[in-house]
Amino acid sequence: MTGTGMSGTGPGEIAPDGSAVEFYAAMPFDERSAALVHGALAPGTAILELGAGTGRVTAPLLALGHPVTAVDDSPEMLAHIQGATTVHSAIQDLDLPDRFGCVLMMSYLVNYGDREALLRACRRHAAPDGLVILQRETLEWEEGSPRDWSHDGIDFRVTQVEPRGPGAVAATIEYRMGGRRWTHSFTSRRLDDDQLPAALEAAGLRFDRFLDDTGGWVAARPA
Ligand SMILES: C[S@@+](CC[C@H](N)C(=O)[O-])C[C@H]1O[C@@H](n2cnc3c(N)ncnc32)[C@H](O)[C@@H]1O
Repeated sequence: MTGTGMSGTGPGEIAPDGSAVEFYAAMPFDERSAALVHGALAPGTAILELGAGTGRVTAPLLALGHPVTAVDDSPEMLAHIQGATTVHSAIQDLDLPDRFGCVLMMSYLVNYGDREALLRACRRHAAPDGLVILQRETLEWEEGSPRDWSHDGIDFRVTQVEPRGPGAVAATIEYRMGGRRWTHSFTSRRLDDDQLPAALEAAGLRFDRFLDDTGGWVAARPA
């Protein structure tokens, strides 16, 4: 993703989008996100997971009975995944012959990359009655003093936020875990409620519903 404002530093392999492989491999499984996705689907629905990383959500989705095809453009990330079909590809270039009952693109990828190309890849791989589930950023990025928070033994710190035009910021987050330190820099572009229908429509999708109270989880269907 050279030239897209995505980069990362720290020990181990760094994925093209700046995500640190060792950091994601050391984080606990994301059971909560998996439960939320599972709750929106019929039992056993096959899931295409875009940007699966080391499988933090893949593993609990498999345990909940969903066959998962996990896509990522970092082979080092995918090497950590067990029990799913893995596909090494950029999401926007993905052209699988299969159609899925669920296409899942979380981790705010809809805020970071080429939005239309990413959403078109979601649409391309959704079955006619399938559900596309997106996780979008709801955080209000603010310039000014650094912000810190901690969970699961990880210390997070936003070290830089700079405006990059209307609704966009360049940000850097620092992660510290067990004496190791990584940074991840990215540009985040807002996808507000009023922009959502048009963004989905441009990719051949229509808004279906929000899956949570914050509006961070969006369900869409082929138009
Ligand atoms: C922030 S990590 C999150 C991984 C996983 N969803 C999780 O929650 O642990 C984002 C992942 O998406 C992958 N990724 C980002 N943009 C991508 C793209 N355009 N095509 C394929 N993979 C991408 C990165 O390589 C990385 O593994």
